[in-house]
Amino acid sequence: MAKTTFSSKLGVLLAAAGSAVGLGSIWKFPYVVGQNGGGAFILLYLACSFILGLPLVMNEFQIGQKSGKSVYGAYRALRGNGRWQWLAWMNVITLLLIMSFYAVVTGWCINYLFEAMTNTFAQMDANALSAHFQEFEMHSLKVILYAVIAVVLTGAVLWFDVSKGIERMTKILMPLLFVIMLALAIYMLCTCPNTSGYEFLFRPDFSKITPQVFLEALGLSVFTLSIGVGILITYGSYMVEGQKVASTSIQMIALTIMVALLAGMVIFPAVFAYGFSPAEGPQLIFVTLPMVFQHMWNPALMSSVFFFLVLIAALTSTISMMEVPIAFLCEATAQRKRPLNRHQSAIIVSVVIIALSILVVLAPQLFDIFNALTSNILMPLGALAISVFTGWFAPQALYQGSPVGAKIYRILLRWVLPIAILVVFLNSLNII
Ligand code: PFF
Repeated sequence: MAKTTFSSKLGVLLAAAGSAVGLGSIWKFPYVVGQNGGGAFILLYLACSFILGLPLVMNEFQIGQKSGKSVYGAYRALRGNGRWQWLAWMNVITLLLIMSFYAVVTGWCINYLFEAMTNTFAQMDANALSAHFQEFEMHSLKVILYAVIAVVLTGAVLWFDVSKGIERMTKILMPLLFVIMLALAIYMLCTCPNTSGYEFLFRPDFSKITPQVFLEALGLSVFTLSIGVGILITYGSYMVEGQKVASTSIQMIALTIMVALLAGMVIFPAVFAYGFSPAEGPQLIFVTLPMVFQHMWNPALMSSVFFFLVLIAALTSTISMMEVPIAFLCEATAQRKRPLNRHQSAIIVSVVIIALSILVVLAPQLFDIFNALTSNILMPLGALAISVFTGWFAPQALYQGSPVGAKIYRILLRWVLPIAILVVFLNSLNII
């Protein structure tokens, strides 16, 4: 069987950036920045992303590129035995759990896009919008329907080979996302009556930087860069011949940070300009912003464009999350008498995720449990394990740049990153 690859270096870059740029960058990043010292936090986040995030991103790409396999075969191929196979399973389970609620939220975005297009939010005030959101959330059947649409849309892209599905889609969607985001940020810059939003986002306040905030920056880097779940391993295995891991990783991180900052430059100037207070999470996207858009030129158009943008960001992330279990299934059954092909795997993974999403909708407490379990426990543990795997058990997958670079990289993977992640992990569990 021919090896699966993307057809261009740009394809890998945009698909990885698509995975990274998601709801985290839009509804979490700008708010966390504003809350934790603005420009000072941005510097810290940049440091965390480039000093600690970069080696982790490179490491995952490198594992995929060196082994040429998805998570199912990668650890086994590099280690020479199946002792690290639990990590492959952990990656897949983590992603299925993240998808179970991410699909629900992506479904909300689809519903809000339709509502924006039909001008449903016109004349709704804060209370009405808040009630409207709660009412929608309670309407289980509707929420399930939209979650199913989100999974089916993602599954439809993954039905095709990676170069025809993921690559083609992300090559259209990511530039579109970037252009719309840039256009909205410029629009805000030109029409915004005051600078409070920019001050909230950028004014550096170094007094807010505490060890706690440092941990927050590191945790945010891991989440926004989609580290620790094997997505970048899988995409690394699709890299074209001779693709440079270091430069691809740097470009991916730079793109992600740029989009996250642009998101902040769209959201907060608007929120502050019309006298609202900033929030994070669903409240920001589904209550505050629809209200803010009512004050702008052509509210129906502006809010439709915005929800379209959020939907693109979410879908390019769901694509990456579902690709990992699909590639896993194909590879795991390859030696069987009847191996599963991509189409069959895509259907199986979609059905499992739909079942999990229905569970999350019907038992809403699972939403918070899965969210906390994945972002506070499984993702940091995954990042820690992948770092230890290469640093201690699969040194042939270590970066081989200049001798000095390689040495620093090895120390980072063996000691610095595992310890840093462990501290974040214990902190998020309130143990330290
Ligand atoms: N990086 C995505 C975001 O910031 O929204 C979230 C994410 C995607 C987390 C994929 C984990 C993951 F496996």
